[in-house]
Amino acid sequence: MKRVFSGIQPSGNLTIGNYLGAMKNFVRLQHEAQCLFCVVDLHAITVPQDPAALRQNSRNLAALYLAAGIDPEKSIVFIQSHVPAHAELGWLLQCIAYYGELGRMTQFKDKAATKDVVTAGLFTYPALMAADILLYQADLVPVGEDQKQHLELTRDIAERFNHRFGDTFVVPEPYIPKVGGRIMSLENPEKKMSKSDESQGAYIAILDPPDVIRKKISRAVTDSDKEVRYDIEQKPAVSNLMTIFGLFTDMTMEQVTEHFAGKGYGQFKKELAEVVVDGLAPVQARYQELIATDEVDRVLRTGAERARDLSRQTLATVKERLGFLAE
Ligand code: AMP
Ligand code: TRP
Repeated sequence: MKRVFSGIQPSGNLTIGNYLGAMKNFVRLQHEAQCLFCVVDLHAITVPQDPAALRQNSRNLAALYLAAGIDPEKSIVFIQSHVPAHAELGWLLQCIAYYGELGRMTQFKDKAATKDVVTAGLFTYPALMAADILLYQADLVPVGEDQKQHLELTRDIAERFNHRFGDTFVVPEPYIPKVGGRIMSLENPEKKMSKSDESQGAYIAILDPPDVIRKKISRAVTDSDKEVRYDIEQKPAVSNLMTIFGLFTDMTMEQVTEHFAGKGYGQFKKELAEVVVDGLAPVQARYQELIATDEVDRVLRTGAERARDLSRQTLATVKERLGFLAE
């Protein structure tokens, strides 16, 4: 059985970009692979976090995983900092990764450009991400388009280690959806939809109430002319909205185009809003149930135990291959 690993940072306010680009695939993959889904709190602290908010966000994200349909009987759901092997292998792989290749990471360059202070952790972040994946010998990593470069670096690190120290790591493949791998901002179709956007109108949060979703969609930018037509070059804003519609209804772009033939933007946006509201409603309802109970906490305890068990062997092999004296 194939092994799958993915993670999301608990930095609050997950968007439908996270949902359509990553989480929906997590749910799909758990039927055909052994999956680990992680709340990557060690990654979150590469930028300043309020401690109380981080704790809350970590638990909430775990609840959202379950609410989105991840079945804890099938998949392992856990918090990254509960499994010390992540930090440990992360350090070892920092000593395999090159300064130059980390400096070429576009996510680092983009984030560093907007910050007054840049932590060393923000720079070495991709080595920790490689550790997350390689620790479990994952074959497949479902992520959005923006993580492709990090996955390539992970593969390079794995190959380099295997070459120098003997076959140790499975070299993982990215699993990026062809449609939905990059959902764009509602206010600027040149920009990725991001939970850290300073303007709340740019994104729809998975937990946004129906009226907020309706308002954001009615204010979303569109393109010139009145036609609902899929054309990334000429009509990036409408194409992005059509992608969202297609993903929530399981319709192809041809079907969406046909459905809205002869209808204007007003009608399109109205239907889109209802489709998004209805699509998120069951996730929101389940989420509210879950955060009120201790089910999440139980799932996380079991998840951490299972992840710790699975991580032990790889870490031991790595340390032995590197030449560390046995305890
Ligand atoms: P992050 O919020 O950066 O931890 O991202 C969690 C997951 O969501 C990663 O797999 C990202 O690639 C994916 N993701 C984030 N934003 C988007 C987006 N706008 N479109 C598609 N996928 C996204
Ligand atoms: N870097 C990812 C993001 O920002 C989160 C992440 C950390 C991750 N470790 C991972 C994703 C391992 C996939 C696999 O979205």
